[in-house]
Amino acid sequence: MREEMTSKLAMELEDKYGAHNYHPLPVVLSKGKGALVWDVEGKEYFDFLSAYSAVNQGHCHPKIINALTEQAQTLTLTSRAFFSDVLGVYEKFVTEYFGYDKILPMNTGAEGDETALKLCRKWAYLKKGIPENQAKIIVCENNFHGRTITIVSMSTDPDSRKDFGPFTPGFVTIPYNDLDALEKELEDPNVAGFLVEPIQGEAGVFVPDEGYLSKAYALCKAKNVLFIADEVQTGIARTGKLLACDHEDVKPDILILGKALSGGVYPVSAVLANDEIMMVIKPGEHGSTFGGNPLAARVATAALEVIKEENLAEKAEKLGKIFREEMTKLANESNMVSFVRGKGLLNAIIVNDTPDSKTAWNICVKMAENGVLAKPTHGNIIRFAPPLVISEEQLREAISRIRKSILSFE
Ligand SMILES: Cc1ncc(COP(=O)(O)O)c(C=O)c1O
Repeated sequence: MREEMTSKLAMELEDKYGAHNYHPLPVVLSKGKGALVWDVEGKEYFDFLSAYSAVNQGHCHPKIINALTEQAQTLTLTSRAFFSDVLGVYEKFVTEYFGYDKILPMNTGAEGDETALKLCRKWAYLKKGIPENQAKIIVCENNFHGRTITIVSMSTDPDSRKDFGPFTPGFVTIPYNDLDALEKELEDPNVAGFLVEPIQGEAGVFVPDEGYLSKAYALCKAKNVLFIADEVQTGIARTGKLLACDHEDVKPDILILGKALSGGVYPVSAVLANDEIMMVIKPGEHGSTFGGNPLAARVATAALEVIKEENLAEKAEKLGKIFREEMTKLANESNMVSFVRGKGLLNAIIVNDTPDSKTAWNICVKMAENGVLAKPTHGNIIRFAPPLVISEEQLREAISRIRKSILSFE
């Protein structure tokens, strides 16, 4: 069947047999290596989405694939009904890597967030002494934490919420990057946690003011409220540090990781915390059949080793500066681009048109024709997040293709 496959047929099959819960660009990929991907007809592209920042280590990184295939031939799944000879080794490695007492392993980012919410609530009742069922968690407008019912209950995005009610109670929403609003809500003694993305990725790469995270952390500390960082998209070297919170020397009480924790090879997520928080969860109170399975444990270990061995945080920092410099030049030359923002290799350009226009989409289609894959996030915002293994030469080549594509709209 593979020999006869064409892009047209692949798109027809997905359209006919798959739920229409995504609206992909009309590109059908069949191979990836490093920062590059190829479509069914063999056309080469730079991947500037990296599966929403999951493929930080590059497509099919040999070290991660080796870990996967080796373990796949040995033992794949035990469930947590038994111990395995790799889980504890991974847990020791990952907790030392990020500096926490314990990890709770899960699979997807959304599960990581759900786990953090449950952990926070349990801590609220057992440790903080909040009366039963009264715990509140503060979240931010325009957040994105995933797609489960409870997570969309925290969302302010109409597409995420409409017709999915009734919603889970217990959340208070404040504007992002607003310390006064946070301080005010923290007056409520029933607040247990503050859940925040250090940079709002899906909302369009919103970078908060410098000092926001460290001040928010201090405000939470003063009220014995857990600071919970969702670093599913910003973590694992994407923003030029291992964690985006590291830019402000903030150590979250609960840290949520996903996506690049596996280098995009396999769904692996994790929640990290110290004992006084993590130990509130007892056997039988939370878990997942696949969470912490031997494949995940080996893949995540290899993926994290690659980050350090290849200095990917430093690379993201350096290449991100070049990217923003070049895009700022483009914004000065072209009236199609208003400005660029971001940190490390998580960046976005704001297209100079109304949010409901098709311009950003059309630019992405044009860039794909010119061999660069990116996608609009919200309306007129285009996110650029290449694998961190991209070389400076490749980055400059991709930038010249992005320029050419955008200037063709003048
Ligand atoms: C910040 C953040 N949290 C959570 C998620 C959800 O992750 P997943 O799609 O693996 O459930 C995402 C996905 O984009 C994300 O960006």
